[in-house]
Formats: sequence, structure tokens, C-alpha cells
Amino acid sequence: MDLPDRTPRKRTYLMASPDHFAVEYAINPWMDVTMPVDAELVHKQWERLRRTLVESGHTVHVLPPRAGLPDLVFAANGAFTVDGVAYGARFRYPQRTAEAAVHRAFYETEGWEFVAPTQTNEGEGDFTYLPGAHGGVILAGYGFRTETAAHAEAQEVLGRPVVSLKLVDSRFYHLDTALQPLDDSTVAYYPGAFSTAAQRVLAQLFPDAVLADEVDAYAFGLNLVSDGRNVFLPAEATGMAAKLAAAGYRPVPVELSELKKGGGSVKCCVAELRG
Ligand code: ARG
Repeated sequence: MDLPDRTPRKRTYLMASPDHFAVEYAINPWMDVTMPVDAELVHKQWERLRRTLVESGHTVHVLPPRAGLPDLVFAANGAFTVDGVAYGARFRYPQRTAEAAVHRAFYETEGWEFVAPTQTNEGEGDFTYLPGAHGGVILAGYGFRTETAAHAEAQEVLGRPVVSLKLVDSRFYHLDTALQPLDDSTVAYYPGAFSTAAQRVLAQLFPDAVLADEVDAYAFGLNLVSDGRNVFLPAEATGMAAKLAAAGYRPVPVELSELKKGGGSVKCCVAELRG
């Protein structure tokens, strides 16, 4: 079988220091406050992810640590950017509300056009963008965190069509735990995380998708970051890595066991800055 030529594209990412990461509250089914976190190991694993992205040719900005914001490390939730415009986040739970201002300050300092949201949304946790699919389309999840009113607001702010997808399994409470782009026009996803109607929509829009199963999804195998060729994903997602390799991508396993205790993995730690 002839595999398509998978070409990487240089990206700019935003990560956030893991220095204050802890499981101090439980707002998703993965979090268990009685579970100790190894701070040294968190730091080592996170730093290795950062270095791997840089060594692959990408630019990585880092938000400094903030005491009192243990989930700030999940940088993907702070905003959503398309074509140089940043649509800010408005977190569902009070424990994370203050993170939005940290992200906003970053975008404003860096000279982005920043639009403050009026609706609840958790940034790239629930939004993603495929520049090469259907002329440039935004996919947006709802059901647990982001409100559909924010999908409409994102469409007004960013001027791209937004396809709303209903999430139905609380273990996969953000879109980025169930679906991620592999390149400008291809996605990987776990159908079981979506409503029957949303599964039909995805099958119609992305007939060439790489489909994951429950084991892949449970190993956070969809919580990946891809540059179009190199796919950074959790080391334990071995089945997903095999599926990606069979589709012509290059899986790059990353060990992030400590952050999984917070209910996140590779993608949750990495926001893409689309200038
Ligand atoms: N503890 C965080 C929360 O529940 C994890 C966020 C994971 N981030 C993500 N992009 N899925 O909000």
C-alpha cells in the first residue's frame, strides 16, 4: 500500500510550568485527591516533553509558575487561536477561573488580538482547527465544560465555521481527550466519546480519519500533538502509536504518567499558537 508523504510544519506552542501541579480538587473522573503526586517526576516528564518539541524544530513559549493554580500546567485550556486572533477562555469551575487572566496577559503582552469571551469555554481543550479541511473548519466539543453558546461566539470572533460535537462519556470531558488533528485536514478520534449524531457528522466530514478504540482513548492516545508527521503522544498509548505508524505518521512516545493524575496528557499541556 502506498502511504501519503507526511510533511511536518513548524509550529509555535505555549506550555505552562508544572511547578505547582497537584491534585487538590476533583473536577474530572481521573482526579483522586488521595493520590500523591511526585513533584520531581512531574517536572522531569514535563521538561522532557518541552525539550522533545524544541528538538523537533518547534518554538515553545512557557508561562511562569503560579502558586494556587495547580491545573495551570494544562495550558491548552487557556485560549484558542486562529489566524492571529486569540479567543479567551472562561473556565467552568471556580478552581480554575483565575487561569484565564494569566493567559490573557500572555497574549496581550505578545501583541495578539485578544477577544475576551462572554461564554463558558475551555480553549483548546474543546476547540480545534483544521486549516486544510473544508476551507478551514473549527471543531468544538460540548457536554461537560464548554457551552454551545461559546461555539457560536467563537464563530463570530474567528470567522470560521464551527462544527459542534456532543461529548457523551465523562472520562472524555474535553474534545482534546477524544479527537485531535494529525495534519491540516486529517483527524484521529474515538467514536465512542461522541453522540451518535456527532459520530455521523465526523464520518461525513472526515472519511479518512484514523479511528481509535476505547483502549487507545483510555490510555489518552487521542490527547496528542501532531506537527503533520511527528505525533507526540503518551507512551502508554501503544495501540494508538501502531495505528498512527500504519497511517504513515511517526509516533513519538512521551512519558507523562504524573500529569495523568490530573486528567490530562500531552495535548492538555500544549496550546498551539496559530499566528
Ligand atoms: N484537571 C484539569 C481539569 O479537569 C485537566 C485539564 C486537562 N486539559 C485538557 N486540555 N483536556 O480541568
